[in-house]
Amino acid sequence: MRGRFVTFEGIDGAGKSTHLAQSIEWLRARGHEVLATREPGGTELAEALRELLLHRPMSLETELMLVFAARRDHLEHRIVPALERGAWVVCDRFTDSTWAYQGAGRGAAGERIAWLESWVHGTLQPTRTYWFDVAPEVAAQRRARSRQADRFESEDLDFFRRVRDGYRRRTEADPERIVRIDGSGSVEQVRAILEEDLARLCSS
Ligand code: TMP
Repeated sequence: MRGRFVTFEGIDGAGKSTHLAQSIEWLRARGHEVLATREPGGTELAEALRELLLHRPMSLETELMLVFAARRDHLEHRIVPALERGAWVVCDRFTDSTWAYQGAGRGAAGERIAWLESWVHGTLQPTRTYWFDVAPEVAAQRRARSRQADRFESEDLDFFRRVRDGYRRRTEADPERIVRIDGSGSVEQVRAILEEDLARLCSS
């Protein structure tokens, strides 16, 4: 596949949204076609699954399968076609979220996630992942200032500590792909780091 697949990750309230929007703008200003999308979501079916995932009570098993069902539809209809035609795909969350939230956060078995991952997306992985890392206490304060909490956002601090540890382990296991961004840095600092790295990806 000719395109580049970039994902943004982090606990809720880590501050990735502003940077995601700026990165998309930066790429488009340089003439790249960019599919800006998100998970769970990105297609009509996956957005419907997102509503259920965020607001309906369900078991961990159901949650895990719905996340991957949404992902499969998204991959088939939007992500893979975009990468095949050489576009950039910039996605707010992908399978690292599943490892962090359903795996580290909720305790889903790693073998189960790995099996679903290889079934749903084979060897396809993001080209680059930016992990926005902030202390769960800081993220909780930011969340309190924003909208009504969904099923994930209303989890307690311990849950987000485990999710953060999950991201840390993912990053240690794949440091070539996952870049840790200090989410407490200034908007300008983070923006400069991202633009430098995106420029590198453009020329690679
Ligand atoms: P968002 O609020 O950043 O759009 O993400 C929606 C929520 O979905 C967020 O709290 C994390 C959660 N999520 C999972 O639990 N597993 C996943 O695989 C994905 C993609 C998201």
